[in-house]
Amino acid sequence: MNIVEEFSRFANLYDRYNTIQSRVAERVVSMIDMAECNRVLDIGSGNGLIYKYMVTQDIKFNEFIALDFSKEMLKLHPTSKSIKKIYFDFNSREDFNILKKNGYDLVISSSALQWSRDLDMTLREISRLSNLFYFSIFTSATFKTLHRIGNIKSPIYSREEIEQIINRYYTASYEVIDYRLQFSNIYEMLRYIKRSGVSGGKRQLSYMEIKNIIKNYPLDYLEFEVVFIKATSK
Ligand SMILES: C[S@@+](CC[C@H](N)C(=O)[O-])C[C@H]1O[C@@H](n2cnc3c(N)ncnc32)[C@H](O)[C@@H]1O
Repeated sequence: MNIVEEFSRFANLYDRYNTIQSRVAERVVSMIDMAECNRVLDIGSGNGLIYKYMVTQDIKFNEFIALDFSKEMLKLHPTSKSIKKIYFDFNSREDFNILKKNGYDLVISSSALQWSRDLDMTLREISRLSNLFYFSIFTSATFKTLHRIGNIKSPIYSREEIEQIINRYYTASYEVIDYRLQFSNIYEMLRYIKRSGVSGGKRQLSYMEIKNIIKNYPLDYLEFEVVFIKATSK
């Protein structure tokens, strides 16, 4: 299954399985140091956690543009006169052409860009849209024990790779936060991995890998590593 199918298939379950993403989105919004911004762009907006936290934290805007490549996720995003929803793939250079260069006060993204196929291209294009980009991204240290036990290479970028690419286009500050999510048994944990979208459809576990993990996984929690980045275009 590809990534868009995986996110679309579980779109209506996202709220039940997004504990970590919700804490992460709240933190991204808390990084915003403006009480008002005219036009905000949210890349990989999903069903609207960033929008909801901005409203809760009383950050004012005239236009909120939600971008996502899952139509099902966009359907679940709040709708209002000030919200524009655009079907958009951050892996496609052509899709960036529909956006206005330097046209936004702030670009935001939370828990989405780890699925960029070419992070260099994606970040270069994003850096042309606005001077400010505040975002979170999961790193390859997410599920680190599970990957070690299963002898699996993480399908997402390491913290070092992310920082290296960011530094090409931005002056940035970084904060790394580790999260843990507790489970009462290993089957619940495996179900979470399948339904939360954190596996992103990039790589399904094989039967043998699952068997090995069930037998040997030593923790009753999953590990997540998230980098929070406040970036200003160079
Ligand atoms: C884990 S969700 C995060 C959603 C939201 N930002 C939040 O914090 O809850 C990741 C989102 O990124 C979207 N996504 C993944 N790859 C994408 C791509 N190539 N282009 C646009 N959106 C993408 C998915 O459809 C999904 O809605």
